[in-house]
Amino acid sequence: MADDIPETAPTKSSSAMWGGRFSAGPSAVMEAINASIDVDQRMADQDIDGSLAHSRMLAATGVISSEDAAAIQRGLEQVRSEIHAGDFPWSKALEDVHMNVEARLKAIIGEPAGRLHTARSRNDQVATDFRLWLRDACDRIDAMLAAYQTALVQQAETHADQVMPGFTHLQTAQPVSLGHHLLSYVEVAQRDRGRFADARKRLNESPLGCAALAGTAFPIDREMTAKALGFDRPMANSLDGVAARDFALEVLSAAAICAVNLSRFAEEIVLWCTRRFGFATLSDAWSTGSSIMPQKRNPDAAELVRAKPGRIIGSLTGLLTVVKGLPLAYSKDLQEDKAPVFQAIDDLELALLSMAGMAADLTFFPAALEEAAGEAYSDATDLADYVVRELGKPFRDAHHISGSIVKLAEAKGVPLSLLPLADMQSVEPAIDDSVFSVLSARASMSSRTSFGGTSPVRVREQVAVWKDRLGC
Ligand code: ARG
Repeated sequence: MADDIPETAPTKSSSAMWGGRFSAGPSAVMEAINASIDVDQRMADQDIDGSLAHSRMLAATGVISSEDAAAIQRGLEQVRSEIHAGDFPWSKALEDVHMNVEARLKAIIGEPAGRLHTARSRNDQVATDFRLWLRDACDRIDAMLAAYQTALVQQAETHADQVMPGFTHLQTAQPVSLGHHLLSYVEVAQRDRGRFADARKRLNESPLGCAALAGTAFPIDREMTAKALGFDRPMANSLDGVAARDFALEVLSAAAICAVNLSRFAEEIVLWCTRRFGFATLSDAWSTGSSIMPQKRNPDAAELVRAKPGRIIGSLTGLLTVVKGLPLAYSKDLQEDKAPVFQAIDDLELALLSMAGMAADLTFFPAALEEAAGEAYSDATDLADYVVRELGKPFRDAHHISGSIVKLAEAKGVPLSLLPLADMQSVEPAIDDSVFSVLSARASMSSRTSFGGTSPVRVREQVAVWKDRLGC
């Protein structure tokens, strides 16, 4: 990096815009630390949208002439097409996206370009651009979460009747429906959508017109620019408008929680696709090989989704640290807000696309799932429940009876369903052979019909609810 810095700064620099009281240009290192263009050029569209709204408002309120406004708008559209075409002369010396766009506008339309910045500052400009950018990001993420949910619901529908082991402490606990397991992630994703929607709602206020920090003496119409940019209202306090970054922290928090949620299913995919579990496999599209071990199929994407919280929580922690203790109103520290946010959103979007892809791609192995579901005395609770229901015992006693029977079965090396009735009766004489009807993984799963339970009847009901909600 330091090698790239020329010894003296080039002459055409942003100081041409703010350098009236300066007699010398910035040092090259000053220019290097000050420039944000490599990062914030991603907000060029939002910057141009903000400038279009601002210039229209300035003309409508008579602050600038309609001829100047028309020239500005034409020029801005040309700047936009140059940027989209990839032949925009981005300049580090011009510091940031705002000054790059304005300098190019000046080159295209001349003098009227200088009127665009009336009643505005880069402080309210950058806050506006950033809110617009994050609003779009929230909308993209919402659509990606919905696609992920759709993939899960489709798999859940196919596998509503498929029994698998449910785990606690990663120890086999009770049989559950695979569809039920998958739908649990649909619920989580819905809460993630709620968090992004909340953040979007609170960030959708316009800082434009807060100017540097105190508002402006020009007779601007902030309602008009807010409306033009799709904001719900102008922000009511100009200091807050330029200083606040909690909107970005909120999106990052939602992103961090979402990434952590995704990492849990990602980890299960990794486990399920191992030889030890053998529950599922990913197709070639979602697997990679090893450069040394020819037999390997690695679920790299799932592992990377599992890892993504490292970067995304890092972004959240980084920006919290930047903002902490900053006095009002704007300080240049706040320029360090965009890199972590862009990185986190890029990472999260890739993670979401990957999870939607893998959720749809997974092929399950029914026999292995069913076999594992019946292992490790996963029907011991069903035996205890039977003792409560049929013999009228308190659950605590029934738990003890079932535990003693499991111990006997374990000693004989058989599952409960193959333990002779006489053995069970040696623990509890009142047990009769109706007990065997509750002793199977499938019976256990099907019996749990309480609302929110794992019985396929309930699972199919929930699949229908989600299909309706997601329109899939
Ligand atoms: N590039 C700056 C940022 O991202 C824009 C605002 C600069 N404002 C200023 N007073 N220097 O925060």
